[in-house]
Amino acid sequence: QTSVGVAQLNWDELRKSIAECRACGLCAQRKQAVPGVGDEQASWLWIGEGPGAEEDARGEPFVGQAGKLLDAMLAAIGLARGDDVYIANAVKCRPPGNRTPETAEMAACFPFLQRQIALIQPKLIVLLGRAAVNSVLGDSGSLAGLRGKTAVYRDGDREIPVVVTYHPAYLLRNLPDKAKAWEDLCRARALMKAVRETQRLG
Ligand code: URA
Repeated sequence: QTSVGVAQLNWDELRKSIAECRACGLCAQRKQAVPGVGDEQASWLWIGEGPGAEEDARGEPFVGQAGKLLDAMLAAIGLARGDDVYIANAVKCRPPGNRTPETAEMAACFPFLQRQIALIQPKLIVLLGRAAVNSVLGDSGSLAGLRGKTAVYRDGDREIPVVVTYHPAYLLRNLPDKAKAWEDLCRARALMKAVRETQRLG
């Protein structure tokens, strides 16, 4: 499937194309691809790194330990998985041993994410960790330098605001940074409110 081809797919075709993808080496060891989960017209799109062992086994993103923390992060700002929320990853297949996906693997998978964003048309994107930032914004800088600013993702002529925060798996190992993640989540919530207000008035 070429990236031009992917850009034409509907949801069913996209899921099938992801399930059958062999565009990078990650397909060799997957049990299954993990396309994403949630509301296909969500206002919120949360993007992580890639499936781990449990996600690979179940076919759903963020169902392991990091997923429990992600659910708590969502709940902290009044959100729930599947309810106006869609969760996806930078790569759809599990990197062996849960290593960070390589830039080339994320690039090979990006057309799928790009198509997901185009189909969902989220009002706001939250990037969880550096791999997601690298994939979506093409920025390989440090997370600390990107937090606190609102970035923009361009989908055709639409501009979608992007908030960057720590990956929940990182937060499980670095508890003191949870306070910073909380700041990011509050900022995301305020930004969503502002976006809704602008759209209501516009
Ligand atoms: N970590 C991720 O980045 N994504 C998942 O789906 C699970 C863990």
